[in-house]
Amino acid sequence: MSTTVRPLIAGNWKMHGLSAELHEIGAIAASVHARPPAADVLICVPATLLSRAAQIAAGRIAIGGEDCHAEVSGAFTGDVSADMLKDAGAAAVIVGHSERRLHHGETGPMVAAKAKAAWRSGLSTIVCIGESEVQRRRGDALAVCGDQIADSLPQDLARSGTAAIAYEPLWAIGSGHVPTADQIAEMHRHLRTCLVALAGAAGASIRILYGGSVTADNADEVLGLPDVGGVLIGGASLLAVDFDAVLRCVPEALFAPA
Ligand code: 13P
Repeated sequence: MSTTVRPLIAGNWKMHGLSAELHEIGAIAASVHARPPAADVLICVPATLLSRAAQIAAGRIAIGGEDCHAEVSGAFTGDVSADMLKDAGAAAVIVGHSERRLHHGETGPMVAAKAKAAWRSGLSTIVCIGESEVQRRRGDALAVCGDQIADSLPQDLARSGTAAIAYEPLWAIGSGHVPTADQIAEMHRHLRTCLVALAGAAGASIRILYGGSVTADNADEVLGLPDVGGVLIGGASLLAVDFDAVLRCVPEALFAPA
């Protein structure tokens, strides 16, 4: 973990969660309040839960959206703008998740436009990238992810210091297969080089999260790797007990917040 960057421990609920599950947000918020980790904590939830989740979180943890439209408003039935997420209480948004790239045909330029919209609305942005299993086997992983940074992360956003990158190899998502420590370290080192090339000094402090089958069993090792600035957690963020166990892998803050 970079010593200069406070890690971000983020959850992504994906298309999971009804009103009945909101108590999990309350439990995570209570636990963070009782035992503050030395990390920023964010849970990204479906748009239907956002405003209630934000109320329940009561500022103890941040709540985010999982996607936004690139336009501020307009005739886009079913879509949600970054302003709407912010209005509902979101502090952040994920863009370019591989599930959106895959199932909704999102391209790098589309992701970059969404990231810009989020930035304009004052949301922190997590831009997701990651290679497929085939690309990794072919030896193309570093090049693919470098290209995704170049086309999905606008340079002015990178320079603003409000974006994070989530490296999520597609083959690690929901599979229980986590890359080796060497593979993660190699990729994060490469991404850091790309970010510095893109954004100069600001690129050195952009958080690069790892995502893909993160649980309490591997978070300790992952968070200890150089240039890993946090984790993005799917399945293990749905239950407070699992998410808390990951948070316990981060050292406690010396002082509780006022
Ligand atoms: P899992 O942690 O369930 O593998 O999901 C990772 C992910 O896609 C987070 O965005």
